[in-house]
Amino acid sequence: MRRPEGGSYSSALRTVDLKITDVAFGGKGVARENGKAVFIPFTIEGELVSAKITRDKKQFAEAEVVDLRQRSAYRVDPPCPYFGRCGGCAYQHIDYAHQLEIKTRQVRDVLKRIGKLDDVPMRSIIPSPLPYAYRNRVTVHAENGVIGYFQRDSNRLIDVEHCSIAMEEVNRELADLRSHDVPDGHYTLRARSGPRVFSQTNDGVANALRDLIVQLMPSNQELLVDAFCGAGFFSKALVGKFQRIVGIDWDRFAIAAAKENATEKETYIAGDIEAELRRTDLTALSGQVSSGKTDGSAKTAVIVDPPAVGLSARLRKTIVDLAPATLIYVSCNPATLARDLAELRSRFKIESVTPLDMFPQTAEIEVVAQLQRSSASTN
Ligand SMILES: C[S@@+](CC[C@H](N)C(=O)[O-])C[C@H]1O[C@@H](n2cnc3c(N)ncnc32)[C@H](O)[C@@H]1O
Repeated sequence: MRRPEGGSYSSALRTVDLKITDVAFGGKGVARENGKAVFIPFTIEGELVSAKITRDKKQFAEAEVVDLRQRSAYRVDPPCPYFGRCGGCAYQHIDYAHQLEIKTRQVRDVLKRIGKLDDVPMRSIIPSPLPYAYRNRVTVHAENGVIGYFQRDSNRLIDVEHCSIAMEEVNRELADLRSHDVPDGHYTLRARSGPRVFSQTNDGVANALRDLIVQLMPSNQELLVDAFCGAGFFSKALVGKFQRIVGIDWDRFAIAAAKENATEKETYIAGDIEAELRRTDLTALSGQVSSGKTDGSAKTAVIVDPPAVGLSARLRKTIVDLAPATLIYVSCNPATLARDLAELRSRFKIESVTPLDMFPQTAEIEVVAQLQRSSASTN
């Protein structure tokens, strides 16, 4: 590679012929030029492309396809006219079954690369019943009469009349919004009304996620702490397995919604997870339930479902100190999950990892990890 005077790599827009060897977490195809990784969106492993280098850094480069010289058998025609320009979808050009294979591979690779977790027992990915028209809510932006999503790698808007991954009810809301002269701002459009609190976006996969957690959770348990509980989506399904449930979330509207139909077994606390968990003595709480059992054998469980940043270092330590018998980690970011599991396995054994395709056509991946308390580090 030519190095201009001054030592930094040239940003000149060279065109190079490359073979795609992988699709990285985040959605871009990966090729190598003289050993350096080149990331090329909208490509599939096995494809040969001519690509224009758009960014050339010391560690990696980015490029855009100018000519697709050999196409993958998994390539399909994207149904959406905005695909490629819109920042929302990354995989509409890939056959759905193959998207699932790519996401499974990405989870395995990220766990290995970031968490050094080599032999994690992976279960099959749970697909979305609907590969399109699945989102029950979207947020669009309005600026100077343009209503839509951000363009890929840009803060400029693309005018969107119809979103192919949104449910028809949501698209009707979009058409309605577009028919009005609305002020600039952000608008969340929903398929149905309800409390304005976090809710899972893909109903079919949300139900599969809830069923999976019910299946992974042992029966006849004493105490469940549902951290990041939102309106109690998981807790409500687990009432039959526990004598007592404590849900924590700092969104007081979500907590109010959770309290609305709560049984006397359920307690919901509006507060910061870290602060509330540090206050919580699982053994003592379980002891109250099972009349004085305080020998550490309590049948306790914790569910964590944090935002993409994952668990803070202090929260990871708090969970290790609490040492519940069962820990279920629901993650929307495999990279922070990998980091967190690497630390949690000092106290827990990873029993299973299950990816779920909550967001088909996009690069997002949901993952459930099931852990059991162990006395020593075992995996
Ligand atoms: C991914 S959502 C999960 C919600 C719920 N488990 C569900 O399935 O509906 C994350 C939730 O974490 C809450 N949250 C984020 N950071 C928090 C913190 N530090 N303390 C308390 N709640 C927090 C948000 O309010 C949000 O409801």
